Amino acid sequence: MAAAQMLEGRVAIVTGGGGEIGSAIARRFATEGAAVLVADISADKAAATVSAIESNGGNAHPLALDVTRAEQCEQAVAEAVERFGKLTTLANVAATVTPQGTVETLSYDDWRSAFNVNLDGMFWMCKFAVPEMRKAGGGAIVNIASSHGHIGMPRRPAYCSSKAAVLQFTKCLAIDFGADNIRANSISPGAIDTLRAALQRFKSREEANATKGPAYLVGRTGKTEEIAAGAAFLASEEAAFMTGTDMLIDGGYMAFKGTTTNPV
Ligand SMILES: NC(=O)c1ccc[n+]([C@@H]2O[C@H](COP(=O)([O-])OP(=O)(O)OC[C@H]3O[C@@H](n4cnc5c(N)ncnc54)[C@H](O)[C@@H]3O)[C@@H](O)[C@H]2O)c1
Repeated sequence: MAAAQMLEGRVAIVTGGGGEIGSAIARRFATEGAAVLVADISADKAAATVSAIESNGGNAHPLALDVTRAEQCEQAVAEAVERFGKLTTLANVAATVTPQGTVETLSYDDWRSAFNVNLDGMFWMCKFAVPEMRKAGGGAIVNIASSHGHIGMPRRPAYCSSKAAVLQFTKCLAIDFGADNIRANSISPGAIDTLRAALQRFKSREEANATKGPAYLVGRTGKTEEIAAGAAFLASEEAAFMTGTDMLIDGGYMAFKGTTTNPV
């Protein structure tokens, strides 16, 4: 007998769905039976994710979307409903790369850009998604935060502050829409083996993984599929009693941060 699919009959939007973690989430959602609108500011990257889903027998459609543009977010929700009949699931994954710098050296534009994409993008997507989820009888929102929303990091005030705000925003969503059967949770990944994480401070993924891995209780950095597994769980009925909370998927990093002699 085939294993039951966790997201059978669901319709999802994944923003940042062309990125490494967003693609893994979109692919896992599709594997679990959801129809997925894969939205990314890069149309090419969204299309690549959709190709991967389709070649695996899944149902997906690509969309070029800038989450900082309210009208594009409204259109994305309308597109999902028109194409797939409803909207039940939203994974907000899109985030921008912010240059490193302190409040003294960062430009105001860089500061604003972190909030415009990482936080305001979620605001716009949720604003338009919630009414459709209500019409569908309920839904699940999964916001990608970061372990750096829990702890500060040197020279990353914009990123850390925007991700801390995501944690609080998610709780408020859960409170405001619990009665509509809409759950909202966040995921805080630790360092995941991605180009984005590597190139912040290292020359290659290999160098990043070799340096950061030993600082994790499991002895390595995380895999995109491990974030996708958490997202699929939170989006599914398996997590029906979870809302307004944050899931740390961080290899135990937050459990011992501060006691290591190799804090990376
Ligand atoms: N990689 C890690 O180690 C790590 C750790 C903690 C949290 N995260 C978070 O996970 C998420 C995904 O990170 P990733 O490593 O896959 O990065 P990534 O750069 O591969 O993916 C981010 C995606 O967002 C898209 N994007 C950027 N601006 C956008 C906009 N305005 N509108 C729509 N799409 C936009 C990019 O084109 C890209 O495809 C981010 O929210 C990031 O903050 C990542």
